[in-house]
Amino acid sequence: MTVSVLVDCDTGIDDAVALLYLLAVPDVEIVGITTVAGNTAARAGALNTLRVLALAGRTGIPVAVGAERPLLADPLPHSTHVHGADGMGDAGLGEADESLVDPRPALRLLDDLSREHEGRLRILATGALTNLALALRADPSLPSRIRDVVVMGGAAEVPGNRTPAAEANIAHDPEAAQVVLSAGWPVTLVPLDVTVPEQLTEEHCARLAEGGAVGRFVAAISDHYMDFYTPILGRRAAPQHDALAAGVLTGEVVPTVCPRVRVEVECGNGPARGATVADTRGRYRGHPDQEGATVRVVLRTTGGFVDRLVARLESLDA
Ligand code: BDR
Ligand code: CA
Repeated sequence: MTVSVLVDCDTGIDDAVALLYLLAVPDVEIVGITTVAGNTAARAGALNTLRVLALAGRTGIPVAVGAERPLLADPLPHSTHVHGADGMGDAGLGEADESLVDPRPALRLLDDLSREHEGRLRILATGALTNLALALRADPSLPSRIRDVVVMGGAAEVPGNRTPAAEANIAHDPEAAQVVLSAGWPVTLVPLDVTVPEQLTEEHCARLAEGGAVGRFVAAISDHYMDFYTPILGRRAAPQHDALAAGVLTGEVVPTVCPRVRVEVECGNGPARGATVADTRGRYRGHPDQEGATVRVVLRTTGGFVDRLVARLESLDA
């Protein structure tokens, strides 16, 4: 049976790869895409998303613009140092067709899709959680219509990336993340612990660049991303954070340690702002699930997903 997915994202280089990956997986249907500020402004993220869909020949998927600023806090600067001024690695891509942006606000699209696909809709969130928090506030019955939510975000047992404590998606809106992680719906959190080790390398990019339009696009946008990550990783490579979360959703990333535990987001203004405090104290007893917890935290996977990801991307050019 086809899996219906709404992607809430801030496209963004790795968001673009995640979208292409999902488009390549059989039995997965992206039924809508909402954007949020983070890597770029939400509107720019929508235009980038339309570029990706046009590349894959899938312009029929509705793309709606969401929150341009966090729930309560002052916005952080967009992550242009990571993703380029245009959010797509400044790779000289053509203009997007603005007329294709869905006229509905993101919350309206989300609400419409939650009713159209009631009980079956899966949400993949690869940006700040502002849109989802606003949707929960507007309609507390939303979780009853959603099958589950997979979130790329947080850092459970490793450092953050936006700050020493906070991962970027959570850092952009910690208050929203706290709302989403405490809403009682089934959430799978895919943190930096498992995304950073899954890296696209120069060899992967060389292979992709020899392929068709999708391969060349991924290689081109990844260049800037690798420039950013080289001093951090000590080698020229780029973690595929958002595709990892997409892989968890499809089942092609296999979690091996994934306890259901309480997760709180630090919303104070100190140095730990945006930290995801996952209660992993069960580690000495094989990570048992915690009574009443609704967030699964992926702490380990079998690894080796990026080769599968590259093969999926290549299949779009076949
Ligand atoms: C996350 O932050 C964004 O920059 C990426 O697109 C990804 O969703 C990684 O921390
Ligand atoms: Ca993202």
